Amino acid sequence: MSVTVRVPAKVNVQLAVGAARPDGFHGLANVFLAVGLYDEVTVTAADELRITCTGPDAGQVPLDRTNLAARAALVLAGRYGREADVHLHIAKDIPVAGGMAGGSADGAGALLACDALWGTGASREELLDICAELGSDVPFSLVGGAALGTGRGEQLTELEVGGTFHWVFAMASRGLSTPAVFREFDRLGEGRDIPEPVASRDLLDALAKGDADALAATVSNDLQPAALSLFPELADTLAAGRAAGALATLVSGSGPTTAFLARDAEGAEAVAGALRASGTCRAVRTASGPVPGATVV
Ligand code: C5P
Repeated sequence: MSVTVRVPAKVNVQLAVGAARPDGFHGLANVFLAVGLYDEVTVTAADELRITCTGPDAGQVPLDRTNLAARAALVLAGRYGREADVHLHIAKDIPVAGGMAGGSADGAGALLACDALWGTGASREELLDICAELGSDVPFSLVGGAALGTGRGEQLTELEVGGTFHWVFAMASRGLSTPAVFREFDRLGEGRDIPEPVASRDLLDALAKGDADALAATVSNDLQPAALSLFPELADTLAAGRAAGALATLVSGSGPTTAFLARDAEGAEAVAGALRASGTCRAVRTASGPVPGATVV
């Protein structure tokens, strides 16, 4: 018997970052939008825990117990006093170490799939609690749609979205480590007063209206200077997207994937074509959102 769960990637349309907290995490006002690029996690009963992965970036995915999918299976099994005796297969389409919550997607997917396979009957609250234990972005991978994440990003308030937003994503030639980007944020901000992170009212209104121009005027990412400092070539990709007519350009989360907002699907294809021709990135994809979170298929 096996269960397959499909989980979307995310883009942060706003990522406001506060000062480092005593626990090392940063307070965030993090506006997530789930977009239609997906990983699929299939869980099959087996003699012992095993992970396999296929897809363009599969070679970069750890196949040991550090993989968030394995950790999700182990945490759920631990809570229900059983063995995590499953084969986890990840069909990976979300870029690895790209700032699009690919690892978080696999954690949320494995959790939902194991829960269904084992029939644990865990409540939604309990699953969200385990997601928060696994990582700051994992609860959003379960919930999907659009949400404001506060705390370290794990406390979610779901948001209304009045339309579909069309995006282009440019994958970079290498990954960026999220902790390294936050450390660079701290280094760049040394000696400066870092304000409390707050969600932008104008941005939430733009999402609620489904207004791409208004959203373009309000997107922001406080980690972008840190990502650019560690990966200066990303500025060329952003410039190529801007020149191609993207309404807004930004680094997705901690990067290095760059995100480009278009007015419609046609506009997204035009920006995607120009980015492919620019030679400033490894691969280009289009995707729209919001889309639902982790779903059993
Ligand atoms: O929560 P998660 O495991 O995804 O976080 C990965 C790393 O990113 C953390 O160890 C921390 O260095 C950094 N981080 C942070 N503040 C957050 C979220 C993540 O500093 N709110």
